[in-house]
Amino acid sequence: MSIPFADRLLRWFDQHGRKDLPWQHPREPYRVWLSEIMLQQTQVATVIPYFHRFLERFPTVRSLAEAPVDDVLQRWAGLGYYARARNLHRCAQTVMQQHGGQWPRDIDAMVALPGIGRSTAAAILSQAFGDRHAILDGNVKRVLARHAGIAGYPGLPAVQQKLWRVSESHLPQARLADYTQAIMDLGAAICTSRKPLCGSCPVSEDCVARRENRIAELPGPKPR
Ligand code: ADE
Repeated sequence: MSIPFADRLLRWFDQHGRKDLPWQHPREPYRVWLSEIMLQQTQVATVIPYFHRFLERFPTVRSLAEAPVDDVLQRWAGLGYYARARNLHRCAQTVMQQHGGQWPRDIDAMVALPGIGRSTAAAILSQAFGDRHAILDGNVKRVLARHAGIAGYPGLPAVQQKLWRVSESHLPQARLADYTQAIMDLGAAICTSRKPLCGSCPVSEDCVARRENRIAELPGPKPR
């Protein structure tokens, strides 16, 4: 038996992963949540200064919930996709009003909050609490579609369901926060959509796309 996927990925993460991101120190739910919403459509390097400026003005979920929405939009300006900022504000208010200011630790309660889908909820719970939940964002879909050789457009429900199952099957028993960061980092740095760096990939030895020469075909394109 070969070394499990997660073990190889974690070993790679220990050497090459991002361990000094501002939301990792201290790793607390409000900061992790804020970072995940900012990172939904924006790259890490762009997010970092906004993250610091936002926290300076809104250091707690309470301060964010109580702020006028215009102040929130003002600190968000430049990140784009303003629906995210409005949902962020509504989410902080919901956490205050319905959860007594404590982040819910239940994935379904988390998904019920404004602006939080299943993958974002899982990313927050795994990074903030070390809970065992699979993620499936755009980068992870690409990694897993290639590694497991899953054809078809990942936006299709049947394909997405297979990818969720694969993502769950790889979860380690420990180090969930690191593992979540590791698989995102792998997608961002190694398993890139064009010219992936398979020679540096810790899971290339059993990658179906690589073995079958299908890297360019996976993940499948949007049907037309
Ligand atoms: N995209 C979404 N969440 C991320 C994270 N924690 N690190 C890097 N990219 C991300």
